[in-house]
Amino acid sequence: MPHLLHLDSSADPRHSSSREVTAAFLRGWRGRGPGFTVTSHDLHADPPPHLPDAALHWAPRLRTAGEVVDPAAEARQRHYLDELMAADVLLVGAPMYNWSLPSTLKAWIDHVHVLGTTVPFGDYEARPLAGRSAVVVSSRGASYDAEGEQASWDHTVPPLELVLGRSFGMTVSVITLQLTLADRVPAMADLRGRAAAEADAARSYAEELAERIG
Ligand SMILES: Cc1cc2nc3c(=O)[nH]c(=O)nc-3n(C[C@H](O)[C@H](O)[C@H](O)COP(=O)(O)O)c2cc1C
Repeated sequence: MPHLLHLDSSADPRHSSSREVTAAFLRGWRGRGPGFTVTSHDLHADPPPHLPDAALHWAPRLRTAGEVVDPAAEARQRHYLDELMAADVLLVGAPMYNWSLPSTLKAWIDHVHVLGTTVPFGDYEARPLAGRSAVVVSSRGASYDAEGEQASWDHTVPPLELVLGRSFGMTVSVITLQLTLADRVPAMADLRGRAAAEADAARSYAEELAERIG
């Protein structure tokens, strides 16, 4: 039966918009029946360390003779890889932090984007995650509309599309909600209606996507 790996990375446990949307996705997923199982890993509450050794970027057989890795670090990486490989669908809450990814999510990527394991390299042509689905939920305080100057400032979604889509071969869906700071920032008061509409649309789309994704 299909299994979902659910990652959140917002550092805001009280008002997180991305967590609300991933929760909506979980409702839709679980609503399909008891066989639609979930592993949740809160990367903020239980963060991966920064990658402790560059040798972990390579599958064990691709490391040089001098690259001897701490067994505890190797076991931790194996755990993250096992969680990912067991998932038919990956759900990632990815807020924009300083135009980029939360460092916890980046550390997770650094552990699972492994040449010769999750990514083809040399004579290793396997792509074990190819064809599976990934859903990225990206919340951001401001807006980065395609027609605006700020469109090119988004360095949150593009690296996830590269890693999950281009490298792993997953089919990536992106749910974006913008202007999440409108309620908090007085200068954004006139944008509150649009922010609320984007949040509603994101929750509805997440729940609907979860009901049909496989
Ligand atoms: C450390 C930090 C950096 C942020 N940097 C940006 C940014 O570069 N651009 C932006 O639009 N919003 C930025 N924000 C606002 C968040 O993207 C916004 O609050 C978003 O809703 C966070 O996701 P969450 O609601 O799931 O916690 C930042 C927030 C934090 C805490």
